[in-house]
Amino acid sequence: MSVIVLGSLNTDLCYQLKALPRPGETLHALSFKVLNGGKGANQALAAKRAGADTAMIGCVGRDDYGQSHIDAMGLEALSTQHIQRSVQPTGSAVIYIEQSGENTIILNAGANEETSAAQLQAYPIKADDSLVCQMEINQAETIKALNYAKNTGARTILNLAPIPDEFTDGLFNTVDYLIVNELEAHAVCQYMLAQEKKTTPDATISAQEQAQIIATNLQLNCIITCGDKGAIACTPDEEIYAAPALPISTKDIIDTTGAGDSFTGVFAAALDRGDQLEEALNFAAIAGSLACLKLGAQSSYPTDKEIRQHLKSAAQ
Ligand code: RIB
Repeated sequence: MSVIVLGSLNTDLCYQLKALPRPGETLHALSFKVLNGGKGANQALAAKRAGADTAMIGCVGRDDYGQSHIDAMGLEALSTQHIQRSVQPTGSAVIYIEQSGENTIILNAGANEETSAAQLQAYPIKADDSLVCQMEINQAETIKALNYAKNTGARTILNLAPIPDEFTDGLFNTVDYLIVNELEAHAVCQYMLAQEKKTTPDATISAQEQAQIIATNLQLNCIITCGDKGAIACTPDEEIYAAPALPISTKDIIDTTGAGDSFTGVFAAALDRGDQLEEALNFAAIAGSLACLKLGAQSSYPTDKEIRQHLKSAAQ
């Protein structure tokens, strides 16, 4: 049983700001940090800290940033032997973090553009493994990787972030678990309706209704993360589960960057060790909340023990 993450590795240039700059405005940052990030790398780290045997597959540049990713993952005993070095620079992200904790991100894919399904095919993936993908590498390669993993009998998990400009046909065909936030869920519903040439869905439909529409139409498990309201899951035969977020006061939220990645990595780790959907959802919802309490993505991810302590206190 292993969690295999095929995806992006970025260097995050994180600026804490009082507010976002307006066009033409120059602002002084409150703080600046260079941190390892990228949705793929973040999810791999989150899964590993939650206790899963985890491998990261992707591409970084032959630069210091790329080496920093490999070194940091090695320190956490995460398998990095399938990370390739590219002539392109390591992917990067400029992240503006407002005082509310909300963020704005500008990405440069760099070496992530070269990540391919062939890298996964060189990995000895087994039927009891889980493959986790996101949308920061080439979409066609992601589809190939999901199909390949499914053919081996492995569990497939797709976090549909960031929302692509277009959905390639077949993207959802071999996905077992689709993880989206509310905006991403809306985009999937619009895509499905456009396919059937109907009008776009009412923007006011609830997350639960969205999860039901997606799960039944695409015949997969749909998980929608709803920020401070927790998360909802719907199975293809319409079983519904809900998990609360931790009750965190807004003044304690430092940075929401990578909270969805914390959720996804921990969810994958929980399923991989045999948790049922409801248990995995509860576990992941706590991990997503805890990731908002510190600056940065990977730097804020909890261990298995920390998640369990919070689950226990929430149950008391
Ligand atoms: O989800 C957060 C991540 O998105 C950041 O680490 C950044 O690299 C972007 O990929």
